[in-house]
Amino acid sequence: MKPVATIILAAGKGTRMKSDLPKVLIPVGGKPMIHHVLETVKQLQFQPVVIVVGYRAEVVQAEIAGVSATFVRQEPQNGTGHAVQQAEPVLRQFTGDTVVLYGDVPFIRPETLHRLVDVHQKENATATILTVDMPDPTRYGRIVRLPNGHVARIVEHADASPEELAITEINTGIICFRTPELFEALQHINAQNQQGEMYLTDTIEIFSRAGKSIRAVKIEDPFEVMGLDNRAKVQAAEAQLRARKVWKDTP
Ligand code: UD1
Ligand code: MG
Repeated sequence: MKPVATIILAAGKGTRMKSDLPKVLIPVGGKPMIHHVLETVKQLQFQPVVIVVGYRAEVVQAEIAGVSATFVRQEPQNGTGHAVQQAEPVLRQFTGDTVVLYGDVPFIRPETLHRLVDVHQKENATATILTVDMPDPTRYGRIVRLPNGHVARIVEHADASPEELAITEINTGIICFRTPELFEALQHINAQNQQGEMYLTDTIEIFSRAGKSIRAVKIEDPFEVMGLDNRAKVQAAEAQLRARKVWKDTP
C-alpha cells in the first residue's frame, strides 16, 4: 500500500445525543467511540493522522492526548467540507492518499478500509467512496449513478429530488481521496444548499464533471458504518455488539 493519511472528523456537537459529553467521547463497547476509530487507524498504520476538533475541543483533545496525531480546530462547524479544509496546512506536502473517517462511526473494520484503499490505488482513482445499501436511507447522502453505472455525484437527503430519495445506496461518509486533488476541489465548493453548509460530498460532482475517475466500494453490512448520533443508536449498537461478540474477527 502506498502512503495513506487519515482525517478524522470530530468537531460536531452531536445535538441529538442530549449529553454534555462531545459525541465522539460517548462510550460504546466499553470505551469512548473515537477510540475504536483510533485503534483501527493504528492497526492500518495510516500516517499522518489529523483529527478535526471543534465542539468542546479541549475535552476531546485531553481524552485522546496519548495518540500520535495532529489536532486542528474547526470554528465554526460549517460542514464536512469545511472540516476537511482545516487539515490542509498539515497535509499540504503530502502526495499520497487520504481517507476521511468520522469519529462517530466506530465499527469500521481495518479489513474494509484496506479493501477501500486497495481498490482506490489499483484503479488509480481520484476518489473511492465506501457505500452500502441502507434499508432506510433517510438522512443519508445518496449515490447518484450515470446510466453507465459510474458515480456522478452524491446528493444530500435535504437536497434530493423524489427520484433521488428513492435511491437506497448511500454514502457512508468514508471516502478515499488523492490528497492534492481533494484540497484543490475543496476550493470550489460553496454553501448554497438546503443546510447552508460546505459539503465534502460536493467534491464528487466536481471530479465527475472534470472526467476524473470515481470508484465505489459497496459493503454488505450496514452495522459496520452505523453513525451513532443518538442514544437509541448507541443502545442498538451495544446490543448488536453483545450479539455478535466475535464479529470484528470475521472477514
Ligand atoms: C454526512 C454526509 C452524508 C453521509 C453521512 C453518513 C456530507 C455533506 N454528508 O452527513 O452524505 O451519508 O454523513 O453518516 O458530508 N463534522 C465536523 N464538522 C462539521 C460537520 C460535521 O467535524 O462542520 C463531523 C461530525 O462530528 C461527524 C461527521 O463530521 O463526525 C459527519 O457529520 P454529520 O453532521 O453527522 O453529517 P451528516 O449530515 O450525517
Ligand atoms: Mg450524521
